[in-house]
Order: sequence, then structure tokens, then C-alpha cells
Amino acid sequence: MQKKKEIDLNQILNNLTMKEKIGQLLQIAPFYFIRNIDVEIFGWLRELNLNEEKIFNAGSVLGIGSAKDMIEVQTKYLSKSRHKIPLIFMADIIHGYKTIFPVPIALASSFNEELVTLSARLSAEEASTAGIHVTFSPMADLSRDPRWGRVVEGFGEDPVLSSRMAAAMVKGYIGEGIDKEYTLTPCVKHFAGYGACDGGRDYNTVNISNVDLFNMHLKPYKSALDAGSRLIMAAFNTLNGIPCTVNSFLLKNILRDKWQSDAVTISDYDGSKQVIAHGVAKDTEEVAYKAIKSGLDIEMQSTTYSSHLETLIDNGLVDVKLLDEAVYRVLKLKKDIGIFDNPFKGAVLDDSKIVLTEDKLLRSKQIAHESLVMLKNDGVLPLKKDCKIALIGPYADSRNIIGPWSWHGKRDLHESLYEVLLNHVIFMKTEEDICKYSDSDIDIIKKADVILFALGESDWLSGEAHSRTDINLPNNQAKLLEIANISKLKSVVLLFNGRPLTLNNIQKADSIIECWFLGSKSSEAIKDVIFGNINPSGKLPISFPRNVGQIPIYYNHLNTGRPLTKNGNNEYVSKYLDSPNEPLYPFGYGLSYSNFEYKDMKLSKTKMKLNDVLVAQVEVVNNSKYNGKETVQLYIKDHFAEISRPVMELIAFKKIQVEAYQRAIVKFKISINDLMYFDSLGNKKYDLGKFSVMIGTSSVEYLVKEFELVE
Ligand code: GLC
Repeated sequence: MQKKKEIDLNQILNNLTMKEKIGQLLQIAPFYFIRNIDVEIFGWLRELNLNEEKIFNAGSVLGIGSAKDMIEVQTKYLSKSRHKIPLIFMADIIHGYKTIFPVPIALASSFNEELVTLSARLSAEEASTAGIHVTFSPMADLSRDPRWGRVVEGFGEDPVLSSRMAAAMVKGYIGEGIDKEYTLTPCVKHFAGYGACDGGRDYNTVNISNVDLFNMHLKPYKSALDAGSRLIMAAFNTLNGIPCTVNSFLLKNILRDKWQSDAVTISDYDGSKQVIAHGVAKDTEEVAYKAIKSGLDIEMQSTTYSSHLETLIDNGLVDVKLLDEAVYRVLKLKKDIGIFDNPFKGAVLDDSKIVLTEDKLLRSKQIAHESLVMLKNDGVLPLKKDCKIALIGPYADSRNIIGPWSWHGKRDLHESLYEVLLNHVIFMKTEEDICKYSDSDIDIIKKADVILFALGESDWLSGEAHSRTDINLPNNQAKLLEIANISKLKSVVLLFNGRPLTLNNIQKADSIIECWFLGSKSSEAIKDVIFGNINPSGKLPISFPRNVGQIPIYYNHLNTGRPLTKNGNNEYVSKYLDSPNEPLYPFGYGLSYSNFEYKDMKLSKTKMKLNDVLVAQVEVVNNSKYNGKETVQLYIKDHFAEISRPVMELIAFKKIQVEAYQRAIVKFKISINDLMYFDSLGNKKYDLGKFSVMIGTSSVEYLVKEFELVE
């Protein structure tokens, strides 16, 4: 085992020139180091006014494709660098490297932290072989607006679920420690509130009250930092008028003062320069001034620091201490990762024994099994073993089902639905226009036992800069369901999408499964579920609206002063004239082949003192012949408080296995910490008085008991 060098970071820091210090805060793409910048760098890249000196003073690299490239870049860099401080390599490993796992919104649907940790662990094992040290993951942005393209990359609308999923992912990336081989150092993003963009339009304005910031949006980032995320990325958007990249409330007051974090802060891609477009700096010099003062450490793919920081410091406008603190954080990260000892850490030229192994692909399938959500099943599933299938729709024979941000994933490496269902399919057509189905098509279809409609939105309709105003199935795909009427056959709709869609027009289907984008083994995982080899167990991490007009829609809303009531006089209340208030499918909802019955809910006491632990329990009975997994959800309602509190909020969940015709007792411990909230100043509060506890299978189906919090 190579003996670790004694590294005195302060000594290293003090030996650096000003330009070298500033260089540690520059992150650029790998080609700058190995191409002739005078010949091959052109267009807007020239605006970065990079030169040889700045490039070979840079501190980190954005993205790297292979161990070979990493070794070439690091070797060239170290040969030219005076200080010999190695580059650190960062990239987007979001849900896998070459073996692709379900997209994060699907991982959240599993409500299974162990599987989420496993997916990150295996991703780190693979991606580290390319010499990648840091991943820009997890994305901890809460999303309540399905129009936003990046819902696919997050964990949904709830702060507790998102917090637990973000922490699970961080744990997986880190493994035994960021200094070990086959690990990745996480960079949680996008700080903060990126998913609350007005209109669900990416990069748009974000305004969040302090109450919502502290009680909802900030929790998942904190959870990721507490779990060991060593970097945090500033979001593109303004938060309450100030771009996050230069937002000292976030980068100093919250991150440093309140959370006492020494995480490295990094801008998003040229986020610094965008401060000018935001109208909060007149030029790149002012950006540099505001960014360093606000607490931004690394600039990703922009050069305001390397262009202006030295002058600002020489002119006494910026205290060199700010620069030294930022550089120290970067040097400490490099030391803790271990690249001072081994600048080529991780790089494995022959990764064939590590990536795309049978075991990793099998794990990806197992994780996919628990990540899909059965939304409807009028008995047509599970299919009989000898079932004859008509397979119809754009995803019938598509391999493009591994989801966005799968840079290194090879789509054509894995089977399509058609390929895994070959022995059952008597008719297959990918056409999404019903007019293209002839009478002779219908005649063949009629010979099938069931129609599988494989529908959805292309994975490029999700992801960054891919917001939609209309979240129906695209291109009138839903009209294909008429084929089921014409042929008088039962139908199953399999959905491939990265966001909640409005699904009113497929309700005629006998069964509906939300498959999201499940990664490399999507098709096999779906086959296992529809044939009953696997009992579906996913739950929705985000509400599915009936129509776009309901957005933003989320389960943990406030009651309002004029709530819509089940049987009250609903003339002057908070409602729509043309739609119910409730979503089509609610948070926490998902069906199983099992029939789970909740009964005998009990609380250990009806009066809870501040230091008490209250135990809430319920019996879950599996009244079916199917062994199954069920996510038991625990919600509370704080009836009367200093501020208006949500009608309900998730505080815990447990995913349990209940064998056929068996039962399980599930217990939750509730402490004062579960009942506290933040006021608008960010102070934690509690209120004595009445609380409700709900335990159930979703946010709309539960048992409820009350207790009183007393001194
Ligand atoms: C992108 C994304 C961010 C990603 C970064 C680096 O614009 O906003 O999530 O990590 O750039 O690729």
C-alpha cells in the first residue's frame, strides 16, 4: 500500500503565485489541455480568452471520456505545471456510467434507499475507472411542476423522500471513503430551488418564501451534505431576485454560517457569466467581484476569476483571504480524494472486467423492478405465461429507454420490449398514428389475447432545457387505444416518460404502468412484472395532475381559509370551476398484485410530552396469493401552529415484504424533531396542541389517529 505523503496544504497554498491560486478555481473541458488552442479553439470558446498559462494553471476538468483521455490530460498538465498540483476530474454520472440504472425520478419511486445506494455504488465502481473523481450528482431540487424538463433528474416533490434519496445516493458514491478506489465524490446540485422555476420553464425565475425554503427546498441539499457530499453546485436561476451563483444568502449565510459546511462551491456551466444576463453585473469584472465575495469557489467553464481576480485583489477591492479560503477548500478536496498521492487515481485502461458485467446488469434489472409504478390494473395483469400479445406504439421496439444523462450508456447494447417479448408477440407496429393501422392489421391484432401499448415521450423531451407546456402523450398517441375497442381486447399501457403526464385520455386502458426510463435492463424488468415474476412495488414520488391548469400541484399543500370540503357548501371555496383540486394520481400512490389491508392502527399515547417518543403502529395484511413489497407511509398534520402548516406531510416510510396471506406489524417512532418546523427566520419551532398521525399506502389512503403535544 503506497504510503501517503505528508501534505501541508498551507505550505502548498503559500508557495503558489497569485495566478496559480486563481487557476485552482478554474474548471474547463479536457480538450483545452491536449489541443492546439490557437488553431482548434474558435467561436464562443475564444471569448474565454484562455491562454497556455491559464490553461496549465487550471484546477479541475469538466467531463472526461475515458481513462486514456484522463491519463493524457493529467500527464500533459503535470509536465507543464510548476506547482505539480494534480487536476481533479469531474463529470455527470447521474444514473450510471456504462451500465445505466433507472433515472432518479424512477429510483425515488422505489422508495428503497438500499437500491438507490446500490445504483450509486455500482455507478461509482464503473465511472471511477475513467479517472473521474467527482460526480455532479445527486440532483436534490424539489420539483412540483411537471412542465419542467429536469423532473427526471430529481426525486420528486417531497422534502423527506428527496432528502433520504439524496443521502442514499451520496452514501453509494462514497462507499468506504472518497480516498478509496472505485469511489466518486458527490457534488449535490442545484443550490437552490432550481425546480421551482416559474412556469416550469427551465432556467426561469425562482421565488420561494423563507418558510418554504427552510421547510421544503433546502432540506435535501442539507441531507446530501450531511451524508458526505463535498461539493455543492450553484443553480442557474435567481432565488428571490439574486442569481444563486452570486447569492451570499445561500453560499455564505446558509451554507457556511447556518450549516457550518466546508463544501467546495462550484458554479453551473458558465453560470458566472450568466450573472450579466441576469442583470446583476455589468461586466465580467463585476461578476468576479460579486462571485468571490458571495462565496463561489470554482467557476465551471467561465473565466471571470482568471480574467479579473488578480487586479481586484491588487487594487484592494477583494481581500486575498477570500481567494486563499476558496483555494484551500479545493486543495483539501484534492488531498482527501488522494490525488496528491496518485494523480491518476481511478484510471483503469482495461475496464472490461468492471463495466457492463453480468452482475451489474442484473442489479440494474433488480433496481428497475422496484422503480416502476403500477397505476391501474383491472385484472388484466399479470399476463398468462402463454399469452399472445399485440405490441403497439413508439416504444414497442425502441432501445431509447435508458433516459437522459446517460452519456456513456450505449442504447443499442440492450434489448427493446419487442426483443424480450418475441415469443409472445403476434403483431408489432411502432407507428404512433392510428390512421396508419389498416384493417388487415386489426384482423391480426384480433388474434391476440391482449394489446400492450408502449407509449411515452422521447427522452429528449425531458432533461435540461426541455420543458413542455403540454404534458399530454405527444403526437396523439392516446388515440391508439381505440384499437383495443375495435378489436375488443384487453389493453395494457406501458409509459416511458421523464415527468408526470396528463393521462385522462388513456383511462380506458385496463392496466397502466409508469415505467419512466429504467436503464439498461428496462425491457426485461418490465417483462418480469407484466408476467408476474415480479410483483410491482413502486410508489409515485410526485403528483400526476389531471391537467396542466392544476400546476403547481402537490400533496403537502396548505388548507387555505376556504378549503374545498367533501360535503360542505362549496360555493365560495378554493376550487376550480372546471376541474377537481385533487391530482389524477397522488403522491405515494402505486398498486401491487397483492391486496394490502391496513388495520388496527395504534398510538402508544394520546398525550406526548416534548421528550417523549410516541410509537405509532399498524398491521398490514396481505390478502392475496402474491408475496409483495409495500411502502408503508407515515404522515403527520400539525393542526394549529404559528404558521399555516401542510394538510399532511411525510415524516417516514418503511418498505416491507409481506408474504402471501401473511401480516406484518409496522412501528414508527415519532419524536419532537418530527413535529418541528422552521419559521420565516429559519428558527426551529414546535406548537403544543393537536396532531394527527396518518399511516397508509399513499397520501390519500391511510388510517388516522390523533394525539396532543403537551409540555
Ligand atoms: C449542466 C447542468 C448541470 C451539469 C453541468 C455540467 O448545464 O445544469 O446539472 O452538472 O452542466 O455538465
